[in-house]
Amino acid sequence: MPVGVFDSGVGGLGVMNVLMRDFPYENFIYIADSRNFPYGTKSEQEIIKLSERIVRYLISVGVKAIVVACNTVSSVAIPYLQSVATDIPVFGMIQAGAELALKTTKNLKIGVISTPLTAKTHAYRNEIHRLNENASVFEVGSQELVNLVEDGNSENKKAFLLAEEKLSDMLKKEVDTLILGCTHFPFLYRVVRTVVGKNVNIVDPSYEVSAKLTEYFSKNNLYAKNRFSSRKFLTTGDKEAFLDKANIFLDIDIGEVARIDI
Ligand code: DGL
Repeated sequence: MPVGVFDSGVGGLGVMNVLMRDFPYENFIYIADSRNFPYGTKSEQEIIKLSERIVRYLISVGVKAIVVACNTVSSVAIPYLQSVATDIPVFGMIQAGAELALKTTKNLKIGVISTPLTAKTHAYRNEIHRLNENASVFEVGSQELVNLVEDGNSENKKAFLLAEEKLSDMLKKEVDTLILGCTHFPFLYRVVRTVVGKNVNIVDPSYEVSAKLTEYFSKNNLYAKNRFSSRKFLTTGDKEAFLDKANIFLDIDIGEVARIDI
């Protein structure tokens, strides 16, 4: 059985890169809900509805775990999606990112850059405070930065100026750790690194999500028995457009993308 992974677009491909490296023999199904991109400016109710239909689709094709490779969905829908998926575990980004940031920070001042909806829900602040009430958390949302990545332009001057504008306040507060709280943002790593300088730790929750999946697979003896793997990439939008982007952002070449109507 494959592992199901989904996002609104290309962001989850960064999570896929980490998962494919850590689980070389697993089958994966990746769904990009490109027709409904962006998620970051929608309401909580819309996000719950959109993600529920993807989870139901993944259940219908048969998956052994679901990775919600989207912070926006993770910030509002995990308990609900888990109740829909019942016995299939659903892994989200927020808990993983919060834990990783707390393992990383020395001064307990943590910044989060995300979509506007993730920032508005304070999902990261709440989760970090649940784990350590002494931490200070500074959250900022930017849909423009997400859109630049989704369009395949992650390293231009506009991205740099936007990142500088969005991050300047939290840098003044002396955060020593910055969570990339949107799965599109690891593709802006070099831009963000240039803006924050070398003394701020940049945390990508994908690594911790993968570690959690590893723990779960080991405990439940769920690793694939075969020594080959299939990776299917599906989109609800234009498949040629998604294929072009996947070839920019994925570490492997994929021959084709299929379109699904859900
Ligand atoms: N990549 C998604 C996230 O991690 C959402 C981007 C969007 O559709 O706005 O939040």
